[in-house]
Amino acid sequence: MSKRNLKLILMAVVAANSWLAVSRAAQSELPAGPGVELARAKCLNCHEADLIVAQKLARAGWVREIEKMTRWGARVSDEEKEKLADYFAAHFAPIKPVKTADNVARGQAVYEAQCLNCHGDELIKQQRLARPAWVREIEKMVRWGAAVKDDEKEALADYLFKQYGVRPLKVTR
Ligand code: HEC
Ligand code: HEC
Repeated sequence: MSKRNLKLILMAVVAANSWLAVSRAAQSELPAGPGVELARAKCLNCHEADLIVAQKLARAGWVREIEKMTRWGARVSDEEKEKLADYFAAHFAPIKPVKTADNVARGQAVYEAQCLNCHGDELIKQQRLARPAWVREIEKMVRWGAAVKDDEKEALADYLFKQYGVRPLKVTR
């Protein structure tokens, strides 16, 4: 499908949604998190959040999207661009393979809220750790200032281990 078609479909979907139910508007707000104020200030001048919420992009895709909006008239400095890309990538990333366990979902929410405040996800993604090592890593980040509550640690460890656990033994050394 061409990008243009995809965009048309997306816009149609967005339009249909806004016709369907006013209550859906609540779902189209930009989620809270570091960077949300900037995103509201810079990105909602010409259109609603719907168009943004409908996108699922990797960080590089968000950078391109923000640059495109800049060409179309959004006023965003280079520094702000990075912050916005972090924010959007944290909240509107491509959907990962389904994980059903509640703990994992809960852990993901903690991750998104607390683990991307000081650094991007690259530092995390490049790790492959066993679960106890993830627990230690979380403790370390908490000592360094991450605001993870005690009762969130297990869920977060489940999530991180599921996403960035030790790889299956298909790679031999
Ligand atoms: C100067 C006006 C303006 C500003 C500010 C703006 N946009 Fe847009 N944006 C547009 C227009 C025009 C479209 C095309 C959609 C339409 O026709 O409604 C669009 C569409 C989009 C889309 C849908 C996909 C696409 O590329 O068409 C996304 C996602 C988006 N904008 C994100 C953002 C983000 C993120 C920001 C903040 C950095 C932003 N916009 C700021 C004008 C703007
Ligand atoms: C208060 C700031 C802060 C928060 C919040 C934070 N980190 Fe970090 N993290 C750091 C710093 C500083 C480093 C070292 C960065 C560097 O080397 O550039 C780091 C590095 C890392 C690394 C690389 C390995 C290492 O130990 O250096 C991983 C993995 C990591 N963090 C995971 C996480 C996870 C998971 C969370 C969420 C619980 C998190 N971080 C939240 C500050 C933070």
